[in-house]
Amino acid sequence: MISSGKLKKMYLEFFQKNGHKVIANASLIPENDPTALFISAGMHPLVPYLLGQPHPSGKKLVNIQKCLRTNDIDEVGDNFHLSFFEMLGNWSLGDYFKEKSIRWSYEFLTSKEWLNIDKKRLYVTIFAGDEKVPSDTESARIWEELGFPKEKIFYLPREDNWWGPVGSTGPCGPDTEIFYDTGKEPCGSECNPGCSCGKFNEIWNNVFMEYNRTPDGEYELLEQKNVDTGMGVERTVAVLQGKDNVYEIETFLPIINRIKELAGIEEISENQTRNVRVICDHSRAATFLLAEGIVPLNVEQGYVLRRVIRGAIRHGKLMGIEEEFLSALSQIVIETYSEDYPHLKSNEDFIVTELRKEYKKFSNTLARGLNRFNRIVRNKNKIDSKDAFLLYQSFGFPIEITKELGLENGIFVDVDGFHEEFQKHQKVSRVSADKKFGSGLADTSKETVKLHTATHLLNEALRRVLGKEITQKGSNITQERLRFDFNFDRKLTDQEIKDVEKIVNEQIKEVLPVKRIETTLDEAIKMGSQAIFEQKYVEQVSVYSIGDFSVELCSGPHVENTGELGQFKIIKEEGISAGVRRIRAVLE
Ligand code: SER
Repeated sequence: MISSGKLKKMYLEFFQKNGHKVIANASLIPENDPTALFISAGMHPLVPYLLGQPHPSGKKLVNIQKCLRTNDIDEVGDNFHLSFFEMLGNWSLGDYFKEKSIRWSYEFLTSKEWLNIDKKRLYVTIFAGDEKVPSDTESARIWEELGFPKEKIFYLPREDNWWGPVGSTGPCGPDTEIFYDTGKEPCGSECNPGCSCGKFNEIWNNVFMEYNRTPDGEYELLEQKNVDTGMGVERTVAVLQGKDNVYEIETFLPIINRIKELAGIEEISENQTRNVRVICDHSRAATFLLAEGIVPLNVEQGYVLRRVIRGAIRHGKLMGIEEEFLSALSQIVIETYSEDYPHLKSNEDFIVTELRKEYKKFSNTLARGLNRFNRIVRNKNKIDSKDAFLLYQSFGFPIEITKELGLENGIFVDVDGFHEEFQKHQKVSRVSADKKFGSGLADTSKETVKLHTATHLLNEALRRVLGKEITQKGSNITQERLRFDFNFDRKLTDQEIKDVEKIVNEQIKEVLPVKRIETTLDEAIKMGSQAIFEQKYVEQVSVYSIGDFSVELCSGPHVENTGELGQFKIIKEEGISAGVRRIRAVLE
């Protein structure tokens, strides 16, 4: 049996053998992309390189990337969708293109030496073309030359066979997707790999990123033709282990078994299947999100975390689990994954504590909220916008939970109305600013870039004033200000704030050069770089040094010397959660 660990190892080995360098599994929180809350594909941290910036590890890259797709949370419960998953990916940055990409994928999947999947079970899809971009006949020809039967190649429209950009602009292109036929009966005479009935399981997507989508919605050819492929670990393992759903693979079984124990059941009945799957998926997602230092909140990443934790708690109650159970499940997730993700283990106490705290908050209001829901439904047989807002504000029901309750009970929930109601209750400007900027750099304007360099100075100055244990927990930079989160468990004194400002301003006066160095991870650590999470497979990294003052792993951009920055000033220092402080600062 090929385990998840074995698949990951084989994949890296296959592509290394074919000249690829392994790159880091990046944080789930995008560093320099203000448009997205989470990394949702392995290509996401690579956008600058797909657009032409040289990558320190070269032109052929491979990795395993943890991903979170908020769009898929509602789908969780079927056989294959997960909110959190691991993605295997290989990339060509202007090196090989369709021919090699398709050949390698086919070889890795079907050759006896590698995954040895039965060719008869495979189907592929191709971009059919539209008024803006022609059909990808080249990929079809390559598949045919490999002996792939014509009748198993399907031409599908843009909504199926086009990938990207991640936001509204950027690298994108037609893709060819590889599906595994689960052997289920087709849902009808039109059933094909584009169908969502569950017969076909998409396991690998090869995107040929030859276009850039411009702000006016046009597609211009990129100078550098790239390949971006993505293969879901859990789905592929399900295929390799002969399972018709991801919840039976070996990494999920200990979680599922524990859920059964907690609910006191031997077998999962048909109507409990979805409860168990949601709890299993959400406990993994919550554990990985907490390990990034995110805490449950009502906005941004913290909201998604809150939503999955509360969703899991509700499904637990539906199964009759009365006590707090997510911390126990998170410990199984940590055990299962900490070899590949050591930051899970090092954040174990934080993860468990936060899960218990959130349980305490929500379990108090859940039962009362459900009573209220039932009462409203009895009276008027629907949940209007005000009701949904009441359930949110007074009982802590994320709108998605109310929506799900509505679906389960066949009741209309006015979700759009809820959002309007929600807006009315917010300080509109604050919410929109938060939404817009997410984390990382808002843009690459001169002002934002200056504040990015100032953030590196601040990080080091904090370490000098407060201690070497200080590490970054988050960063968000706009043209107006920087925002920096770090671990520290009390308010800073006025003197400490002054000292930090003084150190930063001294470095600015020194006109220190800012240099980018490409080096090995070991070297970078020897240089004392502020490293991020698990980077164990990485060979080459990009490091920015500021004189002799600071060294940080970072992909830029930065100013050329600190003399460009102006006067640094901290405008606010506050706690945002237990053990995490936030500084806002400006350059004057
Ligand atoms: N970006 C593509 C996907 O997520 C291929 O990696 O499917």
